[in-house]
Amino acid sequence: MADQDSRAGMRYGTPEIVAYLDALHAPHDEGLAAAFAAPGREGMPAIQVGISDGKLVEMLMRLAAVEKAVEVGTLAGYSAVRIARGLRPSGRLWTIEFDPRHADVARRAIASAGHAERVEVCVGAGLEVLPTLEAHGPFDAVFIDADKENYDAYGRWAAAHLRPGGMLLGDNAYLFGELLDDTRRGAAMRRFHEEACLHFDTVCIPTPDGLLLGIKR
Ligand SMILES: C[S@@+](CC[C@H](N)C(=O)[O-])C[C@H]1O[C@@H](n2cnc3c(N)ncnc32)[C@H](O)[C@@H]1O
Repeated sequence: MADQDSRAGMRYGTPEIVAYLDALHAPHDEGLAAAFAAPGREGMPAIQVGISDGKLVEMLMRLAAVEKAVEVGTLAGYSAVRIARGLRPSGRLWTIEFDPRHADVARRAIASAGHAERVEVCVGAGLEVLPTLEAHGPFDAVFIDADKENYDAYGRWAAAHLRPGGMLLGDNAYLFGELLDDTRRGAAMRRFHEEACLHFDTVCIPTPDGLLLGIKR
C-alpha cells in the first residue's frame, strides 16, 4: 500500500527507523564492519553505499546467480565485499578504483573479509580499465558507483559486455537530487537512464539516492 505522498517520493524512514532495520536485516560481521569503517578510519570520504543498499546489492547478486561481476568505484571495498558475498562459489569480481590509496585500503579490507581470491582490485580510470577486462566477458552483472560524468559511458560498456539477462546496477541514480539539473553530470546521468531503457528492462529502485536496475534484453 502507498499513498499520494509516498508515490510522489516522500519517505517515512527516519534515522532511527533506518538504523533499527539496518541492524535487523543487514547486520555486519567483522569483515563487513571493518570495510564499512575503513573510509572514516583512513581519512577517506565516507561515501560507501548505505548498509541496506549494500545488502540489497548482495541479494540481487545471489538471486541472479552471478558468476562474473564488474564494479566501477571501489573506495574502501565495502560494496565489493557485499558483491563478493552474493556471487556463486566460483564467482569473480573485478572492481575498478581510480585512487591508488583507496585501492590499497580496499585490497586490505577485502582480504580481511576473506575474499582476496575472488576479487581483483584494478587501479585506474574506469574508461581505461574497462576495455582491459573485456576478454573475461561476457559478464553477469555490472555495478556502477564512480564519477557521475561518465555513467552514460559506463552504461554503454555494460550494454555491450553483459550477457543477455545480465544485470546492470547504477547507484546515485537520483544524482543527489540533481538529476534534472542543467549540468554536465545531470545530462550524463539522464543519458545513462535513457540509454539503459533501450537495451535493458529497467526500474529505478527508490533507495535513498535511487538505484537503477536493468536486465539486459
Ligand atoms: C562512491 S565511491 C564508491 C563506493 C563503493 N562502491 C562502496 O559502496 O563501498 C566512488 C569511488 O570511485 C572512485 N572514482 C572516481 N572517479 C573514478 C574513475 N574515473 N574511475 C574509477 N574510479 C573512480 C573514487 O575514487 C571513489 O573511491
